[in-house]
Amino acid sequence: MGTTRRRFLQQMSWLTAATAARGAHIMQPASKPPQLLDTRALAHFVDQLQIPTIAKSAGMRPNPSNPDSQVLYHRIAMRQFQAKVHRDMQPTALWGYNASCPGPTIEARSGQPLLIEWANELPREHFLPIDHTLHGAEGDKPQVRTVVHLHGGRTGPESDGYPEDWFVPGQSAICYYPNQQEATSLFYHDHAMGITRLNAVAGLMGLYLIRDEFEDSLNLPKADYEIPVVLFDRSFRPDGQIYYPVSGKPESPWVSEYYGSAILVNGKIFPYHEVEPRRYRLRLLNSSNGSFYRLSFSPEATVSSEALPFHQIGSEQGFLPAPAETSLLILGPGERADLIVDFSSRAGKEIFLRTDVTVVMQFRIGANKTADPSSLPSTLRPVPRIPESTAVRTRELTLADYQNRLGRSSVMLLNGAHWDMPVTEKPVLNSTEIWSFLNLTDDSHPIHLHMVRFQLLDRRPFDLSVYQLTGKIVFTGPAESLSANELGWKDTVRVDPMTVTRIIVKFEGFTGRYVWHCHMLEHEDNEMMRPYVITPE
Ligand code: C2O
Ligand code: CU
Repeated sequence: MGTTRRRFLQQMSWLTAATAARGAHIMQPASKPPQLLDTRALAHFVDQLQIPTIAKSAGMRPNPSNPDSQVLYHRIAMRQFQAKVHRDMQPTALWGYNASCPGPTIEARSGQPLLIEWANELPREHFLPIDHTLHGAEGDKPQVRTVVHLHGGRTGPESDGYPEDWFVPGQSAICYYPNQQEATSLFYHDHAMGITRLNAVAGLMGLYLIRDEFEDSLNLPKADYEIPVVLFDRSFRPDGQIYYPVSGKPESPWVSEYYGSAILVNGKIFPYHEVEPRRYRLRLLNSSNGSFYRLSFSPEATVSSEALPFHQIGSEQGFLPAPAETSLLILGPGERADLIVDFSSRAGKEIFLRTDVTVVMQFRIGANKTADPSSLPSTLRPVPRIPESTAVRTRELTLADYQNRLGRSSVMLLNGAHWDMPVTEKPVLNSTEIWSFLNLTDDSHPIHLHMVRFQLLDRRPFDLSVYQLTGKIVFTGPAESLSANELGWKDTVRVDPMTVTRIIVKFEGFTGRYVWHCHMLEHEDNEMMRPYVITPE
């Protein structure tokens, strides 16, 4: 097995604390290993799973896009607060929307717009290490800057949260979300240029669920039987504060990846949740900076071959054509999955959500049978495949490592371009294109395009050395067949090393300036992000 393949598998299986520590050592050769809290030693399943509150509207306001009508209005403030992430830990200082992490879940109806005032009420100093050599985070910029992006939202460019549209403590931004899209789970998070990774680790994220009549007609588990599961990993210092590694170069503390030692669920380490022996709908979001998770539901807290089969009914941009049965879910940073898990065969017992290397949480299943009026439909929403023949052009876009302009070890670029180079991707409104990502690096990168939804066409391995010598793509095997849970609408896609990953996109919605980027936030903050412009027809 080559080192690239090995590195990839290691990345995919979520690092153990030991390998994370080794990674941290590589990332910071000059500083001595920091004192970290051994989160693996924390008592398991002593904290109840917390369900984020549902955001409450503060009334109606005139609709900015149609002054004759009114629109539901929310005000959500970003604040610093303290939270207990585990019973046996000191409170942790975090930043959160409405002082919670995850922030409140925003519930929207398809076709009913929302107006949200995002207020920055954070302190003026950051508590995580800013790298002033990164583009957009120079020393003349305020330390604390925020801008909110609704990930997966079909939002006009002025409300999309362009990374340079940041605002400082004491300021706010009012964004208009038309919600002209199908039922699905989106999420809102910070996107400030050059410090997105730090604002995310501090806690600025939350779920945004769009519902519609089609979803209502499916009779899926709802209310207490529909559970948000927001996953992210963090490392902590012994005093309970968030630990974020530094490079060892004081003038340039950026590190290339962040992997925490503990996976939190809705803000708790190793929580438990009491459920009934019936079907549940779990709305998963991976909002980690860099970790991919291979998730399963196991009858044992330890690794077991007896994983419980479950059904995935939706991906980032809505329902799959039909439930996809599986016992393993791979979820990269920024990806979401809508699952139906049936606990009825495990009455009186437990089920554990785990990755390959660690247990994440426990479900305690009640012994008494309860009525389950919900259903698991045999078909969901049709997802007509976009014919490749409708694409007006194919763009070949590389993902590759380069020497940084400032001599820093490395920088990963999209198609060899830095953030501030002229815009090269200018699709025409309502046209269809194929974007073909050539991954020349050792990592999987989750690639996200703002505003649009797309379909994954295929992933196909190619010969990297031939490409590097000649610039020619020589495939080394057939395209991998897509799994059933990748046949739906997506907005973030895993681009594996040494593959060409192709997506097909119709640029519907708005004209204007957006971004596309890697959703490993350390990469995004260091040039692995590009503007793109949708031009008028
Ligand atoms: Cu979830 Cu541009 O990001
Ligand atoms: Cu990346």
